[in-house]
Amino acid sequence: MMVTGKALLAGVMGWPIGHSRSPLLHGYWLNQYGIDGAYVPLAVPPDRIEQALRALPALGFRGCNVTVPHKEAAFRLVDRLDDSARRIGAVNTVLVLPDGSLEGRNTDGYGFWQNLQAGASAGWDVGSGAAVVLGAGGAARAVAVALLDAGAPGIRLLNRTRARAEELTSDLADPRLQVLDWEDRAEALQGAALLVNTTTQGMQGQPPLQIDLSSLPGTALVTDIVYTPLITPLLQAATDRGNAIVDGLGMLLHQARPGFHAWFGTDPQVTDALRRHVLGPV
Ligand SMILES: NC(=O)c1ccc[n+]([C@@H]2O[C@H](COP(=O)([O-])OP(=O)(O)OC[C@H]3O[C@@H](n4cnc5c(N)ncnc54)[C@H](OP(=O)(O)O)[C@@H]3O)[C@@H](O)[C@H]2O)c1
Repeated sequence: MMVTGKALLAGVMGWPIGHSRSPLLHGYWLNQYGIDGAYVPLAVPPDRIEQALRALPALGFRGCNVTVPHKEAAFRLVDRLDDSARRIGAVNTVLVLPDGSLEGRNTDGYGFWQNLQAGASAGWDVGSGAAVVLGAGGAARAVAVALLDAGAPGIRLLNRTRARAEELTSDLADPRLQVLDWEDRAEALQGAALLVNTTTQGMQGQPPLQIDLSSLPGTALVTDIVYTPLITPLLQAATDRGNAIVDGLGMLLHQARPGFHAWFGTDPQVTDALRRHVLGPV
């Protein structure tokens, strides 16, 4: 990696930050494209996020990513928001503008959709049936916005805590969003073109997601945004019954592209070698 006195600077703010794969990911691209730049982990406690974001222009940073638990705070703190951040209600990418003000963007929905498109077979069509989205947390908001923008004819949203799903649909105010009871998740799969898990179930250290897939059409695509493990119990069960799957790692890789492009001036590629690199040592 080349880092001179003129290096372009960016990083990721989180608390804790040691588990983040973003430095590995951006570091790989900086190296691959021979860019004089650095992308560093920034451990910022919640009571210092405002101070840290405001310091970016003074330190000469081009911007940063923002991760747990700062995405909602960054949404409130930046000077302007792009359309995705405004609709999702959270910021994951910050740009320092030439006048020193901060623009907040959200690229999680973009990453989700790019990953789905890259992983789905050519014959799969988001418009061919409803999408079933499990979960209504921060990530579900990004997924719902992406699917609405991609032309999903309907989204069935199911969350353990129904009120949170209702809040999400009320915020997005799109008649294609429908809330169903968590207990009805097996029946909700009838006629679906897509099943998305955005809950934490199936993640390392968490129990598998409990769902009976027998009503899911064989043509439906199944994706899990959890990527540790890469093949979650849900993705394994879907594969076992013949459904096509897309794992969640690509969402992480693709959401990083717009930030990298804005800070370092190159639109980077997501490749198998990058997947192996990011999965590797962390
Ligand atoms: N691939 C990527 O790039 C990417 C990006 C973002 C997030 N993620 C992953 O996506 C997952 C969710 O992230 P998030 O930020 O949306 O988290 P979050 O805001 O904390 O939401 C967690 C979701 O999981 C549900 N949940 C938790 N325990 C459950 C249980 N026992 N049974 C059923 N549902 C349960 C919650 O339901 P309640 O509302 O009822 O609590 C909620 O819908 C995490 O694993 C995260 O690592 C991946």
